[in-house]
Amino acid sequence: MDIGTPVTRPPDLYGRPRSDSFMQKLAAFSDNAVTRLARRSSPPGRPPATKMPVIRELVVAAKHQEAEDVVSLRLAAPAGSSDGSSDGSSDGEKLPPWQPGAHIELHLPSGRKRQYSLCGDPADRYRYRIAVRRIANGGGGSAEVHDVLGEGMRVAITGPRNAFPFAAEASVLLIAGGIGITPLLPMAREAARRGLDWRLVHTGRSRGSMPFAAELAELAAAAPGRVSIRPDDESGVPEAADLLSSSPAAGAVYCCGPAPMIDGVRRAFGGSCASALHFERFAPAPITDGRPFELQLGDTGRVLPVPYDRSALDVLHEALPDLPFSCRQGFCGTCRVRVAHGDVDHRDRRLTATERAAGAMLPCVSRAPEGERLVLEV
Ligand code: FES
Repeated sequence: MDIGTPVTRPPDLYGRPRSDSFMQKLAAFSDNAVTRLARRSSPPGRPPATKMPVIRELVVAAKHQEAEDVVSLRLAAPAGSSDGSSDGSSDGEKLPPWQPGAHIELHLPSGRKRQYSLCGDPADRYRYRIAVRRIANGGGGSAEVHDVLGEGMRVAITGPRNAFPFAAEASVLLIAGGIGITPLLPMAREAARRGLDWRLVHTGRSRGSMPFAAELAELAAAAPGRVSIRPDDESGVPEAADLLSSSPAAGAVYCCGPAPMIDGVRRAFGGSCASALHFERFAPAPITDGRPFELQLGDTGRVLPVPYDRSALDVLHEALPDLPFSCRQGFCGTCRVRVAHGDVDHRDRRLTATERAAGAMLPCVSRAPEGERLVLEV
């Protein structure tokens, strides 16, 4: 290499520019390693995902600032909704049970829907707790939670649903980046309750930005050596291999955090001694193997080009700002549209073969073959 040549280096685990070479080495891992990883990521004993239940109306029972830009909401059934079986913990009725890793979908007053992991105590049948980080320049959902939702307000939810179930393997490593602690905190408590061999690593920009510090300190005090808090401004930005360094031999790793962290852990996982990796994304995965195609809006004749590096939903949303969406990962079904003409490259995890045959498409992830046009009924 020419010593004078500038080197473009991949971003760090938070997606920020970086000066070290670790991610370059990560990029050297082959697709084969990731393929092996995928095969190892679903052990036979892993419980199946549950179905999304009906919409229910809850009340914001409490709202707390948990960290910089992070608030938590405790949601309860409205007072007076008790079925008579209340044990006195609440005036409202019991809520459906949930397991660590579960999330609910919050239906905001604006009509936006957003999914948030449950981060409270599954044993509390009268309250759900979620935590939300304000996303600057996001789609407005987190800002609405922060700025509009207040104690006493009613809000609809669906769920709980569990797409990130905790299989309670004998040895587990939990890796959380920032607000990614939300599904992992109940997993850590469950691991402790079951007497598993567990570790938790929580990373973040600074202690002030990392939610649930007091609860994690309590966990750490009760289980010395099992909780590691790694603020970047004290420990430096972690490498994926560092985060995996305490992986249990033949155990499982659970990871939740920014997309670059998950991608880094996935790539580095092949070098760890763990046998299974489970992860949950907050944001869409990067588009892989994207090809440009076109969308036509109904009979209007208006044609929207979709470039190789953007989703159909992103492009559609500019033309149709009211088009609903939620997960942007192809599993909630909120963004469903109907295709009148054209072949869809389905990439979702939601639609059945029958629904696809009837023309359904989830544009947050699904595309069309290169150069082709999909005519939508919108
Ligand atoms: S937004 Fe959830 S499937 Fe498209």
